[in-house]
Amino acid sequence: MSSDFERPFLQVQGLAKRFPSAAEPVFDAVNFSVRRGEFVCIIGHSGCGKTTILNVLAGLEQASGGTVIMDGREVAGPSLERGVVFQGHALMPWLTVRRNIAFAVRSKWPDWSRSQVDAHVQRYVEMVGLAAAIDKKPAQLSGGMKQRVGIARAFAIQPKMLLLDEPFGALDALTRGTIQDELLKICAATGQTVFMITHDVDEAILLADTILLMSNGPQARIAEIVRNPLPRERQRASLHHEPLFYAVRNHLVDFLVTRAKTLAHGRAPEHPPEVWPGVEPDPEPGRGAAVIALPRAAAAANSVPRPAQREAR
Ligand SMILES: Nc1ncnc2c1ncn2[C@@H]1O[C@H](COP(=O)(O)OP(=O)(O)OP(=O)(O)O)[C@@H](O)[C@H]1O
Ligand SMILES: [Mg+2]
Repeated sequence: MSSDFERPFLQVQGLAKRFPSAAEPVFDAVNFSVRRGEFVCIIGHSGCGKTTILNVLAGLEQASGGTVIMDGREVAGPSLERGVVFQGHALMPWLTVRRNIAFAVRSKWPDWSRSQVDAHVQRYVEMVGLAAAIDKKPAQLSGGMKQRVGIARAFAIQPKMLLLDEPFGALDALTRGTIQDELLKICAATGQTVFMITHDVDEAILLADTILLMSNGPQARIAEIVRNPLPRERQRASLHHEPLFYAVRNHLVDFLVTRAKTLAHGRAPEHPPEVWPGVEPDPEPGRGAAVIALPRAAAAANSVPRPAQREAR
C-alpha cells in the first residue's frame, strides 16, 4: 500500500477559535484527518462552529490555535487548490453566470484560450441544469439557482479539495437528488476529496465515507468519527434497504438528539473515537447502537458480506 494512502491528505490538529467578543471559544481541540479521495461530512447543531472550521480549512479565516496541513503544507490563506461552496452563494452580482464561473476558471488556468474556457464553463453550467440561464445575472436567479452557480464554480476549478457548506440546503428535492448523484459520479471518476457540512443525516449517509459528529458549543469538539459501513457504491433509491442503514441513521440521530448537548463545554474527548455503527461494539456500551459482529476490515473495504449480516441479525 502506498505511503500516499496512509498519510492523511488533510490533518487538523488542536484547532481552536475564540472570537474577541466571546468569553469562551466556539470550539477548541478539534482533531481529525481526511484521506485523499475521502468524502467527509460534518454534522452538528446550528452555531457549533462548522462554517468557522470550513473557513479555516479554506484559508479564509484564522484560527486562534492549532494547525491545518493540506497535502504536506500548512494552510495559511486562500488557494485555487480548494474550491468552496458557501452557505450563501457569494457570487459577483455584476457578472453573468457564465462570467462568474469563467472568472474562476481563468484564474486557475490563465493560459487557456477563450473557447477552451467557454467550453469548460458550459460543461459545468449544464451539469447543474442552468444552461438556459447562463447569460443571466445573479439578481435574475432564484436562491436555489444561485446556489447551483456556486456549486458549478467550485467544481469547475477541479480543486484538490472541495469544501461545501450546506450546498444543497436551498434546493428542491429533485434538483438536490440530481446534483448529489452528479457529485457522487464526479467523486468516483476523479477521486475528489470532499469536506462537506450538512444538517441532513440521510444525505450524509448517502455521500460520506466518514461522518464527523460535532458537539455543541461553546468549546465544541469533534466528538466522534463515524465510519460509514455501507458499501461505497450507494444508490439514493435503495439506500434505506441497506442492512446497516438504520443502525447508522439511529446512531447519528441519537447523537444530535441527546449527546451533542451533553458533550458541550469541552466534555467531548480531545481525540475522538472511531465508531462503526452496526459493525463494531460501541466504544461507550449501553448507548444503544445496534451491533452486528462483522470484521472491520470487511466494512473498510466496502465489501460487507450481506449474507453474514442477515445471519447475524
Ligand atoms: N465574526 C464573528 N464574531 C463573533 N462570533 C461569531 C462570528 N462568526 C461566527 N460567530 C459565532 O461562532 C459560532 C459558530 O458559528 P458558525 O457559523 O461556524 O456555526 P455553524 O455551525 O456553521 O452554524 P449553522 O449550522 O447555523 O450554519 C456561533 O455561535 C456564531 O455566533
Ligand atoms: Mg454554518
